[in-house]
Amino acid sequence: MILPVIPKRKDVRASRFPFHIFWLVLGVLLLTTGIHVGLIVLMKKEQTEGWLATHIILAYWFGVSLLLTLILRFKFKKTYDEPTKKISEAMDCISHGDFSVRLTPTHSGKKMDYLDFMMLDLNQMAEELSSIETLKTDFISNVSHEFKTPLSLLNNYATLLKSSVPKDDVCQEYACVIADSAARMSELVSNILRLNKLEQHALSAQKAPFDLSRQICECVIMFENKWEEKNIEINMEVEDRCVIRSEESLLEMVWNNLISNAVKFTPVGGSITVAERRTQDRVIVTVTDTGCGISAESLPHIFDKFYQADRSRATEGNGLGLALVQQVLRLLGGSITAESEENAGSTFTVTLPLE
Ligand SMILES: Nc1ncnc2c1ncn2[C@@H]1O[C@H](COP(=O)(O)OP(=O)(O)OP(=O)(O)O)[C@@H](O)[C@H]1O
Ligand SMILES: [Mg+2]
Repeated sequence: MILPVIPKRKDVRASRFPFHIFWLVLGVLLLTTGIHVGLIVLMKKEQTEGWLATHIILAYWFGVSLLLTLILRFKFKKTYDEPTKKISEAMDCISHGDFSVRLTPTHSGKKMDYLDFMMLDLNQMAEELSSIETLKTDFISNVSHEFKTPLSLLNNYATLLKSSVPKDDVCQEYACVIADSAARMSELVSNILRLNKLEQHALSAQKAPFDLSRQICECVIMFENKWEEKNIEINMEVEDRCVIRSEESLLEMVWNNLISNAVKFTPVGGSITVAERRTQDRVIVTVTDTGCGISAESLPHIFDKFYQADRSRATEGNGLGLALVQQVLRLLGGSITAESEENAGSTFTVTLPLE
């Protein structure tokens, strides 16, 4: 592989007297002064005098000033505006986690200026960040894979132990704790692996038509035990049938996460409303609860990996659910937004293309 030759920083083009601008301005001034003299001679010949002559001269210099301004603006745009715009857009991509961005400097060799060096530095920064990100995700994915087998062994043996000791034996209680912990860890490991795959764009959506209304109702019913236990009222405002083209198994993860969160964060006697409405080209699903809500400081972070606003409930999950939901919706061409008021409730709005 031939590596690009990166010039040394000391080779940066020194700021010097801009001869090209000087010659350009001089040329324009000489030319316009010549035309000015010619105009005066012509007006004398035509005996144009008084206010008309003054106005013609004023209009002429107005035109000349406009032309000079436009030429200088064009020069500044090419030299400064365009490269800084490119740098600013690339910085925006990097700040949003897209490290694939690369810039091509405007000049090469000895003509390179500080803006060109800034672009090269930005490319290097993106390269470094992307290799760190790859290392990190590979490491997490390898460790998670290694965890999978011992965890399923732990789970299996704990289940065996549970069934082989008498119900009132203390070992039964210990086996339950081991089985529950192993199940929680396996769930965490599976979520990490799924998220990693989604983030690395290793999954592609296998879209097929299916009834979204039926899927949402089934997901709500799946949590029946939990919402009945807390005496939560469920309101369903879902159409009888709404066929969309998407990946059913991935979307199931979205509704499961949103409904499980709503049930988890809504106190006894609260209510949850699941609504679905269709527009011309999309379908909008909202999950609203009258739960504890999310503070204004926490709201911007709820889609971050491992973020849990309420640390007292940290044992009831890993903070990966909404990160997964967001990645799934990105893959399926949808989006999610959250609105919430502390101690009043939250609304999660999912928008999906109908296709
Ligand atoms: N409906 C909700 N009401 C109040 N807070 C919520 C709601 N949904 C999410 N949150 C807040 O956002 C955090 C992140 O949610 P997320 O689903 O990613 O994680 P989790 O539910 O804690 O764990 P996991 O989904 O991995 O089991 C939650 O810990 C909670 O603080
Ligand atoms: Mg969750």
